[in-house]
Amino acid sequence: MDPRDVSRWFPYLTGAATAVLLVGLHDVPRAEATEPGPVHASRASARSGAAVFESSCATCHGADGRGAAQSQVGFDVTLPDFSDCSFATREPNSDWSAIIHKGGPVRAFDEKMPAFGEALSDDEIQAVIEHVRTFCADDAWPRGELNFPRAIVTEKAFPEDEVLLSTGSTLEGNVEIAGKLILEKRVGARGQVEAVIPYGVRQRDRETDGRGGWAEGVGDIAFGAKYVLFDSLASQSILSLAGEAILPTGDESDGYGKDTVIFEPFVAYGQGLGSLGFVQLQAGTELPTKYANASNEGYGRLVLGRTFTTGRFGGDLSPMIELVAAGELDNMAAFDWDCVPELQITLSRRGHVRANVGVSLPVTGASERPTELLGYLLWDWFDGGLDEGW
Ligand code: HEC
Repeated sequence: MDPRDVSRWFPYLTGAATAVLLVGLHDVPRAEATEPGPVHASRASARSGAAVFESSCATCHGADGRGAAQSQVGFDVTLPDFSDCSFATREPNSDWSAIIHKGGPVRAFDEKMPAFGEALSDDEIQAVIEHVRTFCADDAWPRGELNFPRAIVTEKAFPEDEVLLSTGSTLEGNVEIAGKLILEKRVGARGQVEAVIPYGVRQRDRETDGRGGWAEGVGDIAFGAKYVLFDSLASQSILSLAGEAILPTGDESDGYGKDTVIFEPFVAYGQGLGSLGFVQLQAGTELPTKYANASNEGYGRLVLGRTFTTGRFGGDLSPMIELVAAGELDNMAAFDWDCVPELQITLSRRGHVRANVGVSLPVTGASERPTELLGYLLWDWFDGGLDEGW
């Protein structure tokens, strides 16, 4: 593709994406809010969450929310422990609401978890969820509502138990495929550690590299840690501080390594905008220990997006647009800017396997940097095995 084409349709594309997002962000009432509850259970008859739990849930889930004994319930499906904050806090109310309305199978859980959509009003279900929330008494754990959809380039603030395989391919010039395998593990209420293994396959350029043919390799492996500094469900915001050490493990002769240790501190911020809209920001620097091999670099990344659900209790579709700026810190005016429109979708019914596809369009320096097709597959392994939850 001629890079000039990109700059020609870039304004239309970003304009269209922004329009979609703004329409989405505008307070369109969700089905959740407008759909009338069953007539026989009006607001007037709503009971307290504790009373609903006692009469409809405690036989299986136990009065303390830890799950009644197997001998008592008469089945051997493991009951969740709602007092376990590590499990309970990461589930957003929307998922629990879907499960309570429609029963376990709506998120590929066991049918022993009955549907209460007919027996309880929407207000009672909301109230019982609030009651279930009281079983985890430790508010150090950030809530799953702050776990905004992951963009392709921008890292998020929420700590995860996730495996992510990302890949990107040039759409012009020599073929170059590059990606990362990222392994993330939560530590305690607010921490996360991760390992990043980059890989690439590239058509060698005959003019600059006499060898021709193909180069492939594993790049500089990185280890990182993240910590949530601030989170608030009320204000829908989360702020984290993170750092990575990028080690010179890659083969620099083929361009897959920088032959220096690089420290990369960054901050990540997520802000909900109501009606499932969100903004995410990340800013960081890359500081090499050997300056001859790499220079101090900096970047800023912005994501604007919104989640739409297919039907009232269905899967998620999250269109996002990222603006990414990066370059040498000494010369910030010359930063390269890219724009990445993208779409994240849930693949599994449980929502723990997701995919995202987008295009990276150079805004500045379009003649030096190619348009790229980007994407990832992610698996939140805490929520179930790869073969579960479909
Ligand atoms: C007949 C037994 C039974 C009753 C009654 C029951 N549940 Fe459940 N519930 C289960 C089982 C079993 C599971 C776990 C299913 C699985 O893991 O596959 C479950 C799972 C859940 C989950 C999903 C937890 C997760 O993994 O994210 C929620 C939320 C829940 N129940 C809430 C309730 C509420 C609220 C009530 C009362 C309105 C209720 N349940 C009544 C058996 C029951």
